[in-house]
Order: sequence, then C-alpha cells, then structure tokens
Amino acid sequence: MTQDRNLDIVRSVADLRARVKYWRDQGLSVAMVPTMGALHQGHLSLVRAGLDVADRVVASVFVNPTQFGPNEDLSRYPRQEAKDAELLDGAGCHLLFAPKVEEMYPDGFATTVSVKGVSQPLEGAFRPGHFDGVATVVSKLLLQCLPDFALFGEKDWQQLAVIRRLVRDLDLPVKIVGIPTVREADGLALSSRNAYLSDEDRAIAPALYKALVSVAEGVRQGGSAEELCHRAAADLIAAGFASVDYIDMRDADSMAKLRSLDRPARILVAARLGTTRLIDNIGVEP
Ligand code: PAJ
Repeated sequence: MTQDRNLDIVRSVADLRARVKYWRDQGLSVAMVPTMGALHQGHLSLVRAGLDVADRVVASVFVNPTQFGPNEDLSRYPRQEAKDAELLDGAGCHLLFAPKVEEMYPDGFATTVSVKGVSQPLEGAFRPGHFDGVATVVSKLLLQCLPDFALFGEKDWQQLAVIRRLVRDLDLPVKIVGIPTVREADGLALSSRNAYLSDEDRAIAPALYKALVSVAEGVRQGGSAEELCHRAAADLIAAGFASVDYIDMRDADSMAKLRSLDRPARILVAARLGTTRLIDNIGVEP
C-alpha cells in the first residue's frame, strides 16, 4: 500500500512564515519540534506528541554550529536529510524547516541569548558556551515559526530547563512541552551520538542508565545522594567508561544543589565512553 506524502520542505524563514500564516488563516494550531537531525524514535515521539496537541507539526533540522565547542563533534555530526524527511513524513509531520547556516546566521550576526543560573552548572560547566548557542538558536526558531507549542525531550533535561526559563524571561508566546526519554530495551537513551559507539562500547553503555536507577533507588530509601553518586561514578569506571564528567542530584527546575529531597529532583550524569560523550537523567520525587 502506498501512502500519500504530506511533508513539505522549506529552507527560508520567509517560506516558513508563509506556511504558518496559511495555517493560521484557517484557524489551525501549530506545534514545533526543533532537532539537529539524524532522527530516531526519540525525535519521532516528539513529533507524535506534537500531533496530539496541535493541528500541524513543523520539525526543524539544523546542526547548529554555535552550540558546539571548538573540540566537539560539529564536523562529524551525522547528517542524513533525505532519511530524516522520510522518517518525519512517516510520523505524520507536515513541514520540515531545514535552513542553511547562512539563513540562520547571516553575515554580521552579532546577538547571543544567554540564560544565567540554570545553564551554568553541569553541562554548562563542561561545555562552555553550549547553552548560549542553544538558547540563541531556540529563540530564533521559536520567533521564526511562532508555534503554539514547542516540544523538547527530557533526555536533555538541563536544556529543557534552560528553554523553559528563556521562554518565561522573554515572554515568548509559546507553551513548552517536555516529553519522556525514549530508551532501548536495555535502558540506553536513544541519541544520535549512539551511532559513534563501537560494538564493545555499545554493550557497556546501558550501565549509564543503571547507575541513575541505582542512585534514585538509594535516595528513595533514604541514602545520601552524594555518597550514592560517588559510588555510581566508580561503578561506571569499573564498567568501562573512560571518565565521568558529573553525576549529581539537583533541583529539577533550577539545577541548584539540593541539601535534602524536599522538592522534585533530578539525577543527571555525563560520562565518556571511548571518544563518545553520553548524557542521561532520571527524576526523583520527594
Ligand atoms: P537534538 O539532539 O537533535 O534533539 C532534538 C530533540 O529531541 C531535543 O528536544 C531532545 O531532548 C529530544 N530527544 C533526543 N533524544 C531523545 C530521546 N531518547 N527521547 C526523547 N527525546 C529525545 O537537542 C537538540 O537537538 C538541540 O540542542 C536543539 C534543541 C535542536 C537546538 O539546536
């Protein structure tokens, strides 16, 4: 059975705005799913959630150079637009916005959106400038599209917290929706970067989620988060991880350090497996 293709592709802000206006004139609501492509079921779960809340879904695929550090994987980041378009179409997405770098950052571009506080620890400390790049590009994408809803994965929990803060602070007229992490059967969170893992490292990778689960269980049983995180970091090294950037329990919204579990908390981890840096997180309620 052949299916009708619904997905259109636009590359300019003007064409994106024209399409969204056309929908708005018909009274249709719009959801946006920003991505960097190399799409997997995690991204597609955001698209499906977008279809649940709005009449039309726009996905963007843009490998945003400003959120990569000088020694990070910008040049080798997987790019596969034709396959991404097929996956988006299959998931029911209506429009793909796939701008070139020159469209997003034309000559003379000089503005940075920088969120203090929530973006400073954890990823912010290990990837200087990363959240400035994310906050700037997400601000631009939301202003270009002006969707009713924008969907982001809990997989990147701190990113979600930074985006919630920036949307509140800049009064952007969009509702941010967080979507639970999609995982492989063995617990590994789906990520475009999993493609970098050797077979051997792929077998070790599920230890990351196991470490989070064991800390969360220990904390629920009244254990010290600090001690549990310390032990979990040692377990990750023993399992074959090269290094652990951090594993820590934080206030789920502000990312501030927590003395005790008196509010919703998040345990967040970043660790290196071979040359690949993996992140994950899990919630703990008081
Ligand atoms: P990217 O890593 O492509 O992720 C796009 C969106 O998919 C993010 O909201 C991310 O949290 C979500 N996502 C990734 N893996 C997921 C999983 N396993 N389950 C559920 N959701 C998942 O995050 C970015 O791109 C960029 O920083 C971006 C926000 C697009 C700005 O450039």
